[in-house]
Amino acid sequence: MFRKISTNHKVQFFRNWLASPGTIGAVWPSSRQLAQQMLAELNLAPGEGIVELGPGTGAITRELLPHLSSPAQYLGIELSSQFLILLNAQFPDLKFVQGDARETHVLVEQHLSCPVKYVLSSLPFSNQTPATQQAIIESISRCLAPNGLFRTYQYALAYWLPRAVRFRELTSAILCHQSRSTILIRNLPPAFVLTWTNPAPSLGKAQNNGA
Ligand SMILES: C[S@@+](CC[C@H](N)C(=O)[O-])C[C@H]1O[C@@H](n2cnc3c(N)ncnc32)[C@H](O)[C@@H]1O
Repeated sequence: MFRKISTNHKVQFFRNWLASPGTIGAVWPSSRQLAQQMLAELNLAPGEGIVELGPGTGAITRELLPHLSSPAQYLGIELSSQFLILLNAQFPDLKFVQGDARETHVLVEQHLSCPVKYVLSSLPFSNQTPATQQAIIESISRCLAPNGLFRTYQYALAYWLPRAVRFRELTSAILCHQSRSTILIRNLPPAFVLTWTNPAPSLGKAQNNGA
């Protein structure tokens, strides 16, 4: 069931952004429109896992709940200890770890017992150095099941900034770019949702056509 993002969460989000703008990457939690696009055509069978990177105040997490047949399918990886408190209070059945997305494959190995079909990221890749971007994408590719899907969003205003472009190039060098949504104007700021798949071994990188 959909629960509105509380004003308290928005205030906490904004405070965190003030304290650490580069790590938070947005002044406001994602809109419901963006959360739903992040979850579009998600088809999680029992026994398949989903990893959320940077769940923040839980704007996407709460939309994701109906897709889970068991809480054991979910792992959230969040850097901020303050957001972690909020997440644990809202979703006591789900597993959240305080950690860095650069260690995604290690944390998955430690905390998730099913193969990872989806990695959904809210990380501010456009604020990161190429080395950090690369480390995170490589870590994701190490734990994503063959044909598994990696999805993230980028803000339209920053879409052509060098670090945003560099992120897409790096990701497309490791995973196969699949799609970009239309611009989501009911998000603040407007954003695109981008999807890559992890090629099955027999396909290799032959089908990779860039982002
Ligand atoms: C734009 S906020 C997104 C919050 C929420 N998912 C939403 O959509 O409203 C980015 C989140 O990524 C987290 N974050 C940033 N760098 C991270 C990293 N290296 N590892 C894990 N989490 C990170 C931040 O603490 C923040 O919660």
